[in-house]
Amino acid sequence: MRNKLVVGNWKMHGSRPANAELLAGILAARPYAADVAVCAPFPYLGETAVALAASGIGWGAQDCSAHEQGAYTGEVSAAMLAECGCRYAIVGHSERRAYHAESDSLVADKAAAALAHGVTPIVCVGETLAERDAGRTEEVVARQLAAAIDKLGERVAGIVVAYEPVWAIGTGRTATPAQAQQVHRALRAQLQAAAAGGGGVRILYGGSVKPDNAAELFGQPDIDGGLIGGASLKAVDFVAICRAAG
Ligand code: 13P
Repeated sequence: MRNKLVVGNWKMHGSRPANAELLAGILAARPYAADVAVCAPFPYLGETAVALAASGIGWGAQDCSAHEQGAYTGEVSAAMLAECGCRYAIVGHSERRAYHAESDSLVADKAAAALAHGVTPIVCVGETLAERDAGRTEEVVARQLAAAIDKLGERVAGIVVAYEPVWAIGTGRTATPAQAQQVHRALRAQLQAAAAGGGGVRILYGGSVKPDNAAELFGQPDIDGGLIGGASLKAVDFVAICRAAG
């Protein structure tokens, strides 16, 4: 049984007062039937941990170094995230793949580093519009996921996957529930074939999820929740999306 999971990806947004107000709104609407978490910018992880301690709501980071420790200026290790109580670390978000040239194999290494420290990696996959138009969607996401499977082996059962079509991120253009379900089903089959517990991996949909489209997306058999960008910055919208998950 895969309990639904809704994760807010704040990206590079927020401030101390704005975060406090947002978290207070999320806390006030408990309890949630779905698992709920927020992924905050690194400098806010400490206060997010304080605000959410013992609340049942999880928190995480938006990236994680593939390295254990050392001379890697600007990087943050999985051990540090674990120390901050992070349950999750997003890895391989399309914005990092596009703006920071992250390769499939680097993303797989980051996932392995997170898992080694008890932090669940949320491994993002997704095609560009050009790739979709060329009919290559399933080939692209299969290649991206295969890198994680090859690196992790049976440990892949411990990850979360997020399918985020690049053309749907921040554009207001959402994949239709049927389009998303088709990709999720293919990812599920790939995970099932790869590892004993692979079928139990939660696969989230991300890309312009809003209160008015969340329920239909989350109602698809292989969509286990969402990774929410813009709508996770407003408590009332994020809470509505969490409720739509069950
Ligand atoms: P939006 O919900 O703003 O489209 O962003 C999706 C996303 O990239 C979440 O990681």
